[in-house]
Amino acid sequence: MSDPRILVVGASGFLGRTICEAGRECIPASRSGQGHLQMDLTDFNQVQRVMEETRPGWVIHAAAMTSVDGCEREPDVARRIHVEGTQNLVRACEKTGSSLIALSTNYVFDGTAGPYGEDDTPHPLNVYGQTKLEAEQITLQAGCLGIVVRTAVLYGYHPLCRPNFVTWAAGALAQEDEIRVVTDEWANPTQVNELAVFILDLCETDFEGVVHFAGKDYLSRFEMVEHICACFHLDPGLVTPITSAELGQDAERPLGAGLQIDRAHRICQPSLQSFEASLRQLVQTIGDPKRFLGH
Ligand SMILES: NC(=O)c1ccc[n+]([C@@H]2O[C@H](COP(=O)([O-])OP(=O)(O)OC[C@H]3O[C@@H](n4cnc5c(N)ncnc54)[C@H](OP(=O)(O)O)[C@@H]3O)[C@@H](O)[C@H]2O)c1
Repeated sequence: MSDPRILVVGASGFLGRTICEAGRECIPASRSGQGHLQMDLTDFNQVQRVMEETRPGWVIHAAAMTSVDGCEREPDVARRIHVEGTQNLVRACEKTGSSLIALSTNYVFDGTAGPYGEDDTPHPLNVYGQTKLEAEQITLQAGCLGIVVRTAVLYGYHPLCRPNFVTWAAGALAQEDEIRVVTDEWANPTQVNELAVFILDLCETDFEGVVHFAGKDYLSRFEMVEHICACFHLDPGLVTPITSAELGQDAERPLGAGLQIDRAHRICQPSLQSFEASLRQLVQTIGDPKRFLGH
């Protein structure tokens, strides 16, 4: 029987909120502390205090600087949050004997040979991927049980969270904005609720190490938007296909960086919907995609 106390770090984020609302009792902690315990990962004393007060059986580390271009522009901040922050959490977990699940990303790979398995060699192209990889290594070398869950392109809807790729595209097209979308970046979009359930199910297993969890469809960003247009009845004529090089973002992206998910299936047998079925469910929940605007 697993320890029921699960501390969620980064509980104000998209995944953190979704985990906290997934039906298991969780203790939410976030940087601002608004409505949660306050835990800024970069402040070791604060991390240690929360860990000693709560003494969780499991810690789910869903905090990150998720702006990939922001990490490129501010590498010191990215390093402080991802590397030093994870180090702080690991030190505290070691003291309380808590097990740690740390979220990571398909951006630890260079995208030349995806979809990737867990045992493939990482080679990050940008600061986000590099600092997340260092956080993975800290987690896996910890003196407590450590699990790294790599995922990709989270989507879904939470009214309190910033836009994700699906809500951004659907919201923009719903107000008839023209958008440019890359045709040469591939990944498996991941439904955030399915990921949350998988992570909570992991707390019931004795798995240790790295596991990939992502959606079962491997699509280019452009193909994702084609599905979004079809499901939300939006005008595909507003979408201009371009290459990543033409888009010219600050951080280089891995192009073919999907994730193989066989190990996740062996550990927890998750039931996954197709991207299209999941979008259709989102249409039923949300109705008008203009509701995505501002989120
Ligand atoms: N989103 C994706 O497409 C994607 C893809 C692959 C992997 N991932 C990984 O999945 C995890 C969850 O991502 P997400 O989309 O849920 O991210 P998110 O919505 O951007 O949330 C990130 C959370 O981290 C918190 N945070 C940042 N710095 C912190 C600090 N110093 N101390 C404590 N909390 C801090 C933020 O708090 P504030 O609210 O205070 O800013 C925010 O709540 C991350 O590890 C991310 O790298 C995400």
